[in-house]
Amino acid sequence: MYEIVTKETVAPNIIHMKFKAPKIALTAKPGQFAIFRADEKGERIPMGLAGWDEKEGTIDIVFYVLGTSTAKLSTMKEGECISNIAGPLGVPTEVDNFGRVICACGCFGAGPTLPLVKALKEKGNYVITVVEGRGPDFIFWVDRLKEHSDEVHVVTGCGKTAWANDFIEQELATGKKIDRIFAHGCPFMMKVSSEASRAAGVDTWVSLTPIMVDGTGMCGACRVEVAGETKFACVDGPDFNGHSVNWEGLVMRLRQLIPEEDKSFNIWERDNWHRLMDCRHKKSFNPAKRRLIDKVDHPESECKLAGI
Ligand SMILES: Cc1cc2nc3c(=O)[nH]c(=O)nc-3n(C[C@H](O)[C@H](O)[C@H](O)COP(=O)(O)OP(=O)(O)OC[C@H]3O[C@@H](n4cnc5c(N)ncnc54)[C@H](O)[C@@H]3O)c2cc1C
Ligand code: FES
Repeated sequence: MYEIVTKETVAPNIIHMKFKAPKIALTAKPGQFAIFRADEKGERIPMGLAGWDEKEGTIDIVFYVLGTSTAKLSTMKEGECISNIAGPLGVPTEVDNFGRVICACGCFGAGPTLPLVKALKEKGNYVITVVEGRGPDFIFWVDRLKEHSDEVHVVTGCGKTAWANDFIEQELATGKKIDRIFAHGCPFMMKVSSEASRAAGVDTWVSLTPIMVDGTGMCGACRVEVAGETKFACVDGPDFNGHSVNWEGLVMRLRQLIPEEDKSFNIWERDNWHRLMDCRHKKSFNPAKRRLIDKVDHPESECKLAGI
């Protein structure tokens, strides 16, 4: 059993949780993930490690509330325990002194980006971090990222530099050398970030999130096509060169179980509506719109967030 030490809603539908997991905290590295199971009947869901503390014996995750398993986890409270955490899993991100690097993150991606930014800075890189969100409300952990970055830029969907891929494109167009780019977020954000750097030929590493089951290379659920070859994201990744990923194939596989996921969520919600009430009051979760959160309108003046 693994205790939830702290729980905080950091943005609408996005939760930061800290768990007691001393063995995982001891060996975790940037880019790795763990597989969580909320209760004995729960499915196994992979989450990128967003931090760890060897002394306290804790690990952190930041997750987007999407369907049954993440909703179930989101209704659990500090002090409660979840059934399993297996990890750390996956190949750690290659961290070296590359020179000038861009770390782009969107959605839950600021979570797993934090330990990466920290490790890249410790290796002596000039770290430029760009945080993307659909509006200021969706931006979190800028202060934490600032601690380890040389520059932090926030983009919220407006102005000339609307999204992380615009930032990458514009940064590369200035002619300043960029030696490597990392992207964490939804597949679309990682795809367009990779496209933004393709012409300049800057290595762009993305952290893929295909459906996983065992997380140990046995089931084949997480297969992805990279440079024309089949790879298992759980043991060969989750990091891959974004220029070589078959993004259409990844998205198609990610969407293949939507009818079953919807059915599962409807059954779970019917039995657990009272637990969700808490989240609804905090406007952190809206199951009816969980796949279709409307575009968030915010005044153009809030663009001043960019380039802080
Ligand atoms: C290596 C890795 C790291 C990840 N890190 C994070 C993270 O740090 N934060 C975060 O919010 N999300 C992360 N994800 C995605 C997260 O695992 C899914 O959002 C979660 O499993 C959804 O489960 P659900 O039951 O709530 O939603 P469901 O309604 O079951 O599914 C919603 C969508 O999530 C995806 N999904 C469903 N089951 C899985 C599964 N077992 N494995 C992967 N994707 C699945 C599918 O695209 C599905 O359509 C990561 C995925 C991988 C593979
Ligand atoms: S999750 Fe089973 S092979 Fe990767």
